[in-house]
Amino acid sequence: MASNSISISTASNKMIHQSMTHKNSNNLINSNRPNSIKILQKPIRSASAALHCPPAPQSPSFGPVTYIDAPSRPGRSKQPKNLNQRNKPVTTKPNWNHVQQMAATALDTIEDIFISNVLEKSQPLPKTTDPAVQIAGNFAPVSEQPPKHNLPVTGRIPPFINGVYVRNGANPHMEPSAGHHLFDGDGMVHAVSIQNGKASYACRFTETVRLRQEQAIGRPVFPKAIGELHGHSGIARLLLFGARSLCGLVDPSHGTGVANAGLIYFNNRLLAMSEDDLPYHVHVTPTGDLETVGRHDFNGQLSTAMIAHPKVDPVSKEMFSLSYDVIKKPYLKYFHISPEGNKSPDVEIPLNEPTMIHDFAITENYVIVPDQQVVFRLHEMFQGKSPMVLDKKKISRFGVLPKYALDATEIRWIDVPDCFCFHFWNAWEEPDSEEIVVIGSCMTPADSIFNESEQSLKSVLTEIRLNLRTGKSNR
Ligand SMILES: [Fe+2]
Repeated sequence: MASNSISISTASNKMIHQSMTHKNSNNLINSNRPNSIKILQKPIRSASAALHCPPAPQSPSFGPVTYIDAPSRPGRSKQPKNLNQRNKPVTTKPNWNHVQQMAATALDTIEDIFISNVLEKSQPLPKTTDPAVQIAGNFAPVSEQPPKHNLPVTGRIPPFINGVYVRNGANPHMEPSAGHHLFDGDGMVHAVSIQNGKASYACRFTETVRLRQEQAIGRPVFPKAIGELHGHSGIARLLLFGARSLCGLVDPSHGTGVANAGLIYFNNRLLAMSEDDLPYHVHVTPTGDLETVGRHDFNGQLSTAMIAHPKVDPVSKEMFSLSYDVIKKPYLKYFHISPEGNKSPDVEIPLNEPTMIHDFAITENYVIVPDQQVVFRLHEMFQGKSPMVLDKKKISRFGVLPKYALDATEIRWIDVPDCFCFHFWNAWEEPDSEEIVVIGSCMTPADSIFNESEQSLKSVLTEIRLNLRTGKSNR
């Protein structure tokens, strides 16, 4: 692959999800040289992209990072200096009245003295929520980068490559005050713009409602879904957030998501997404910079969170997506949006309990929905445990639903035992055998992303065949 490739590298290679919008796409990221673009001189034939494997965790690194000033906090590690290099003003301080100021001070004190120094300090952080592990090495936080033009090019950028390569990833804008999982970081979009044989690079935080409020307050106040919401301290942090909301110190009514997990270009918009909120519309400016336009609800048609990996049908140009809820029924909904932006009614897919569904797949005629063994049981927090549970008694299954079904009565559930795919890469129909073939990364242990395990994580690219005639699967 490398011999027929373009290699591009920037200062931060922490890519999780990526996409490129350009003509005649042929791309491969594989260089570790900072801020350089290298064009190898063999003809480009294949369209491909590669993710960097992160190096082994190193010691934590917090600089140079665009953390904003946070007050020094008792019982904590020293806060990093303000290394803010943004060329845009940080949100102004909140205009709290005297009562709110007193409430804020009281709640900060409760957080510092009781939650941090009693509940959390008594339990050492597992690797899955230890910032020293989760955001170290290749995953260490990076600063925003205004557009850097005329990047060095080795060789020549082919004239037919014009466009923008964008990627999204998690990047905490403030040093975590407690547990932090890699997936908890604020969304940052990176853009490599290629135009007329020249390339520029920029990266910016997606300015979510959450990020702007935390910037204004000067400390992290929104709960981190994986890093903090664990056991009794997680309950305490939820109650603390509820108290701050009641006092008007934070406003969760316009979303709490981090927009850090996926990117899609649909209906003339670049959307940055995480599965806990609506998408955010991000604009690439003519100078190659990135601007957050705002939270996008498809003209008022979408009111619930959408998963971060919707699919756009390459033929019909429609977008297909899921929405899941970890608290109340319906736990799972499916919908599609026309190329013009018109959303279908939701199809409620019945599940017995809320389930982690990070990704799914589509074929020409079907949508394939995984219902696997990692489930949400919030009540486990009262037992001091993680709410993300690996239910080994549950048999994983895949639901096959006609794309334009009006309800879930036609869904065919096919058992796929001992399967946990976090991501899917492709799917297609084989009419002769009445099979649907799904390509996914099967992970073991299934919950090792979220819960500490002695067994190291294995992720295996797997072909899963769902036979609609027999109702059986094999892989
Ligand atoms: Fe993902």
